[in-house]
Amino acid sequence: MLDDAKNRLLTQVGAGTPMGGLLRRYWMPIAAVSEFDEKSIKPVRIFGENLTLYKDLSGTYGLVDRHCPHRRADLAYGFVEQCGLRCNYHGWLFDQDGRCTEQPYEDVAAPQARFKDKIRITSYPVQTRAGLIWAYLGPEPAPLVPDWEPFSWKNGFVEIVFAEVPCNWFQCQENSIDPLHFEWMHMNWSVRLKDQVGPYSPRHLRIEFEEFDYGFVYRRLREGMSESDPMWTTGRVCLWPNTLFTGDHFEWRVPIDDENTLSVTWAFTRVPKEREPYVQGKIPAWHGPVRESHESGGWISSHIMNQDFVAWVGQGVVADRTKEHLGSSDRGIILQRQRFLNDLEAIARGEDPKAVIRDPAINRNIQLPVAERRLLVDGLTRAELLAHPILGHHYAGDYVFQAGRPQEVATAFKEAMGN
Ligand code: FES
Ligand SMILES: [Fe+2]
Repeated sequence: MLDDAKNRLLTQVGAGTPMGGLLRRYWMPIAAVSEFDEKSIKPVRIFGENLTLYKDLSGTYGLVDRHCPHRRADLAYGFVEQCGLRCNYHGWLFDQDGRCTEQPYEDVAAPQARFKDKIRITSYPVQTRAGLIWAYLGPEPAPLVPDWEPFSWKNGFVEIVFAEVPCNWFQCQENSIDPLHFEWMHMNWSVRLKDQVGPYSPRHLRIEFEEFDYGFVYRRLREGMSESDPMWTTGRVCLWPNTLFTGDHFEWRVPIDDENTLSVTWAFTRVPKEREPYVQGKIPAWHGPVRESHESGGWISSHIMNQDFVAWVGQGVVADRTKEHLGSSDRGIILQRQRFLNDLEAIARGEDPKAVIRDPAINRNIQLPVAERRLLVDGLTRAELLAHPILGHHYAGDYVFQAGRPQEVATAFKEAMGN
């Protein structure tokens, strides 16, 4: 349980809030590179700020205020030029550093005034990595965009999936360190959703949490499992500060504002050995729905992450942690909260919070705990994949994490797998 002040401290992310300040010290994925094959502008909202992400005609990305500093027109309806984004109302042009580089009428009528030199638009640095577009809204100097090891794995089909989840980011991230929910929310609830009453899945007997440089590892031992099982020896990763990493996919919980979260998934599916060498042309990106399409529909519950979304939104727009009752299964939840509270103090002392990466020598192919690393890197034959209890579902069927994968992505996936 948290008191109301701590609950607000950990959940509020707007400008000037301590937790918003902490999260702004990390690069956040906000879009996919392949989205810009079809468009050049995407409105984005992050940490309560309305912004415009664009790719200009020379291929440079920029992230600037949503509103033009002239008379506040919506720059998401602007148009890109060779260098920068132009407002569609009176043609002012801005570059990726926030400079105003043209004011068509002023430049002709009063060039000596150089009014444009007095104008700046809010702008933030943008980088691309692993098919994602990352933004940094924190204080300079910016750290490095993490180069996690799976980003350079070979022979895989990668897809990026977005969803907007209407609740606070922190309850989403608390799910990243909650091993027990797997048994109930994903295994047993799925049984009941199929109108079966059992059998229920093996129970958790022990769970352990360990902090490491880039987050926490959680490990589980369930009925019938030996202590040599990779879920007990290696486990899964609550990756700092707002991510779940399961070995073959990352899930970022990016705050849109205090009441909405952008879920960003980067999922790697290894092709069977028979399909090697496989080189992916482009990483597709899609947006999954969270609600049933029919009018009376509630939340979609058919896919793993949709089930998680049901839990998150069910906790309330901002979970009221003054009313919770934490048990021994929630040790990870407590550890994570405490780490964030300690990091807020570290920032107040002028230090970096946990897992901010600044050394280029370290930021190369950073290894994380991966239970199935050997299988994901070396690969399995088609027959071995089909027999594998976890990777088998990912390989053979529909996308298991989220509903709504578009047909063209499903087709590209099947083609990659040779199915
Ligand atoms: S409002 Fe943008 S140029 Fe006038
Ligand atoms: Fe889950």
